[in-house]
Amino acid sequence: MSAKRSTSSVPRRVFLQSGIAAAVSAPRIGFSQGARAGLSRLLNDRFRRQPISHLPTPLEPLRALAEALGCRNLLIKRDDQTGLAFGGNKARKLDYIMADVIREKADTIVTTAGVQSNWCRQTAAAARMFGIDPVLVLAKRDTSPVEYEGNLLLDFLLNADVRFLEPDADRSRYIEVTADELRRSGRRPYIAPIGGSMPGGSMRDPLGAIGYVNAFLEMNEQAARSGIPLDGVVLASGSGGTQAGLVVGARAVSPKTRIVGVSVSGSRPALQKTVAAIADITAAALDLKDKFTPEGIIVFDEYVGEGYGKLNRPAAEAIRLMAVKQGILLDPVYTGKALAGLIDLVKKEYFRKDENVVFLHTGGTPALFPYRGDLLSHLGG
Ligand SMILES: Cc1ncc(COP(=O)(O)O)c(C=O)c1O
Repeated sequence: MSAKRSTSSVPRRVFLQSGIAAAVSAPRIGFSQGARAGLSRLLNDRFRRQPISHLPTPLEPLRALAEALGCRNLLIKRDDQTGLAFGGNKARKLDYIMADVIREKADTIVTTAGVQSNWCRQTAAAARMFGIDPVLVLAKRDTSPVEYEGNLLLDFLLNADVRFLEPDADRSRYIEVTADELRRSGRRPYIAPIGGSMPGGSMRDPLGAIGYVNAFLEMNEQAARSGIPLDGVVLASGSGGTQAGLVVGARAVSPKTRIVGVSVSGSRPALQKTVAAIADITAAALDLKDKFTPEGIIVFDEYVGEGYGKLNRPAAEAIRLMAVKQGILLDPVYTGKALAGLIDLVKKEYFRKDENVVFLHTGGTPALFPYRGDLLSHLGG
């Protein structure tokens, strides 16, 4: 009989921890524990956090995928496992946004995005946790009838007050009118900006990005415990708050870590500008002296394909590869394109083979189902 201990008898966290250490060959180096503690203190002093997301999310090695791609040290940060109504990056943002909503004593949250929005689904779920009513203004991309599947089905189950807008409707105006109507009927609405990224509406601070400063600290600490210097973090970037938070966190505690945004919609210059702007106000909100320029923000826009929400072959194949090699499911709008980007960047030797690169899984998996037709056609099903 082998004396080897079966993995099933090892607690999951311990197993993952030892898995990470074994998966990488990096020497132990010093990590700035002091800087981390300082930033963590600043975050706690300045911002109240309503603990909605299940933290820490695992940081795990992607051994089989790394082998398939011919690189050594690939890891995944499982923010698809934040636990709020199928998980995803919005839960970390909502930790801080809901604290603000509660402080404002709001009884209704009004927010907006597209029909298959992960942001709206998670906002509706977070609202329900605190007895707050969600109003979702969902902009249609075309005039065809909507189908209650994926995120929209979940919005329905959460009994969100869903209002559909035709593609040419004035969204901001509609939200203002809706909020006024709610106020006149005696309600206290909180208007949450799209994606929870850029301050606006009732949100005065970049609270979504603050959630991702916290995420960077968490990831950095997990990596430090295993002695892994993080060379790069690759993520899907849309409204820019997730990337901006990581950028601010990295600058403060691990300036050598490159935060690489794979755009899912905007052009490189536009997204660089947005991320730098959010990073600037995030740093200022934390009293950090750091300043960010668009040129200093790393964005690749080559992987958008035909546009936002349009699944392409490289993204479909990346989803399949992650599923087959690791048993992990990505989504067709964000993480599929981000992994397609990472695969290409490894191929083009943007990352050295021995660098430690984290793929941030930001969730979005409920959208797999409405995309079944595109997935099957790209993958020859
Ligand atoms: C699954 C998923 N990943 C990534 C993102 C991008 O995050 P951000 O809007 O903060 O750039 C989103 C935003 O909607 C998302 O839903």
